[in-house]
Amino acid sequence: MSLVNAQKELPMSEGFVSLKDFDVTNKKVLVRADLNVPRQNGVVTDTSRIDRLKPTIDYLISKGAKILILSHFGRPEGEQNAEMSLAFLVPVLEKQWGAPVSFSPDCIGDHARDMAKILQKGHVLLLENIRFYKGEKDNDPEFAKELASLGDLYVNDAFSVSHRAHASTAGITEFLPSAAGLLMEEELNALNIALEKPQKPVLAVAGGSKISSKLNVLNNLVEKVDYLVLGGGMANTFLYANGVEMGKSLCEKGMKEEAKAVMEKAKANNCEIILPRDVVVVTHLKENAEHQTVNVHNIPEDHMAIDIGPETISYIEEKIKTCKTIVWNGPMGVFEIKPFDHGTNEISACAAKLTKAGQIVSVAGGGDTVSALENAGIAKDFSYISTAGGAFLEWLEGKVLPGVDALKQ
Ligand code: 3PG
Repeated sequence: MSLVNAQKELPMSEGFVSLKDFDVTNKKVLVRADLNVPRQNGVVTDTSRIDRLKPTIDYLISKGAKILILSHFGRPEGEQNAEMSLAFLVPVLEKQWGAPVSFSPDCIGDHARDMAKILQKGHVLLLENIRFYKGEKDNDPEFAKELASLGDLYVNDAFSVSHRAHASTAGITEFLPSAAGLLMEEELNALNIALEKPQKPVLAVAGGSKISSKLNVLNNLVEKVDYLVLGGGMANTFLYANGVEMGKSLCEKGMKEEAKAVMEKAKANNCEIILPRDVVVVTHLKENAEHQTVNVHNIPEDHMAIDIGPETISYIEEKIKTCKTIVWNGPMGVFEIKPFDHGTNEISACAAKLTKAGQIVSVAGGGDTVSALENAGIAKDFSYISTAGGAFLEWLEGKVLPGVDALKQ
């Protein structure tokens, strides 16, 4: 089943006004976008977040709307900061969106209002970084009202920042008719299909280094999924809690009790936690380091576990084959250093193959996940890859995201 088909079965925009419910012709539409893109030496190194906004921009252009873009970049903490100006994005947006883009050096005030007034149909006005004002982060109603005064309608197309209760994600909806943009809708559909109303059985993959930062995620997942695969440093902490000697492996010994509590909760909810049975170990972590595979009960004192072994990979693959839905967050090992990306690559390739065959729906997002799947060369074969980092994790925790909540009817 493809995600497209799955979406047909689950009309998700229930409870939300969609951009397509608005008459946008000749209207000034304020679009909250997330243009917090990676940049190195002034160059955008990954345009995914920009590209994924294109359907909304195209739709608005086709309907003859005037488009105003609200976004943050970095964390300037309420101060004007030339380093974090959005001006550098104008040529990038023009290229990726194929539309004329002008820039307002302030996101509120008379100048911004004047520029908004003369904006032509089908043109885009990019407003300066909204986090240059403290009112953004404080969700100050006066600031939200100022932003709102620039447009006729508000569209939130920034799921990835909707875990923040800020003026441009939450407060502004008090002052303008508000709707979910096409990317926001797509994200919500995918997440709904993955965890809220999934086809069962569901398998979640949670990797990464520390359980301390993902404890709430794990506690929520064990209530919702049938299998929870743990990898990376997180798995080490669970193994340690089960009495396994982890040698020099990354392990949060102080989180032993919390790990035990997650395992008990999983048992009570009929969720099988899948921990590594064998691991790849090294004495020193570096590219192509000499390594061996050992059973988890035989990790030498001076070695560290940095990937899952073949027995674990086979076991996980068998489980994946019995499932209909996979939710993926985090790598299985130190995927940045070869060949210790092997476990992540094998399992994600299995999920990708089953997705392509129409047997499962696979949704991934958060933190390192996208780079781990891109490194594996299969990201394009997953049903859905979220653009969100922190927001994806908060959603995995089962939290209500203020920016999403504010759009509910
Ligand atoms: C992100 O990059 O995850 C979003 O743009 C949110 O950024 P923030 O963590 O600075 O709010």
